[in-house]
Amino acid sequence: MRNVTEDTLTQAVLETISKDADPRFQEIMTGLVSHLHAFALETNLSKEEWLDAIEFLYQTGKKTTRNRNEFILLSDTLGLSSMVDMISSRGNDDATDVSVLGPFYIEGAPFIKNGGDLIADNTGQHTLVKGRISSTDGSPVPNALLDVWQNAENGKYSNEDPEQDDNNLRARLNAAEDGSYSFTTIRPTPYTVPEDGPAGVMLEAMGRHPWRPAHIHFKISADGFQDLITEIYPDDDEYIDADAVFGVRDSLAVSFKPVASEEDAAQYGIKSPFLTVEYDFRLRPV
Ligand code: BEZ
Ligand code: FE
Repeated sequence: MRNVTEDTLTQAVLETISKDADPRFQEIMTGLVSHLHAFALETNLSKEEWLDAIEFLYQTGKKTTRNRNEFILLSDTLGLSSMVDMISSRGNDDATDVSVLGPFYIEGAPFIKNGGDLIADNTGQHTLVKGRISSTDGSPVPNALLDVWQNAENGKYSNEDPEQDDNNLRARLNAAEDGSYSFTTIRPTPYTVPEDGPAGVMLEAMGRHPWRPAHIHFKISADGFQDLITEIYPDDDEYIDADAVFGVRDSLAVSFKPVASEEDAAQYGIKSPFLTVEYDFRLRPV
């Protein structure tokens, strides 16, 4: 191995991977080393550029805490998170598309009743969200658990804004026996992903904006079904075709339809005119 060259180095490194190592680990390390070497060769990576990249990763580590994972944000903004989502959803054509979890999910949101309210004293356009949870074969999934979270009118999630209650615009609810669910909320707003770390520096250097289209996050679980983590997006959002984290799918872009009916609004305890969103989720059996 004294004589490694640009042409033989990759193979020399690959040969160091033990054949006794876990087979999947061997496969992943072989791909990683091969692609890293090919990348350096293809781009003629200089020593200074390599050192800059190492410093960038060091800063990414420094910015990372349990509650703020800058590596995940990098993965999101580079499209890797969505790529992994798509790979793991292969063959899932009849189930609802998945979308990124994001960093703002908090476990243990308070329970509200099916049909309950998230608006409380938030300002924003009142919105009724309703639909059904079914299996990929169309049969209703009884009593699924929906965990819902979204941002406030100022664009912030409760865990980024000291002005909001800890559980503002977050709730868990159980869908009915026939799969139906509904809740009232406000229309979410577009917002920027955190820009005060290396991911923000990278976006700026790439000439990219940090905006995500407005969305409501859902984590849906039910006995006998795979958990579904996804988002729905108002289809008229100005960033719907320019999501900084590539989370939008056609099937997740939905119409937030205006309704001007005092009577309907009164029935749901909200103000007219309001918006309605109908969305049916399809879960994949385990
Ligand atoms: C979010 O939707 O909450 C989110 C997703 C990825 C990166 C930043 C935020
Ligand atoms: Fe979000």
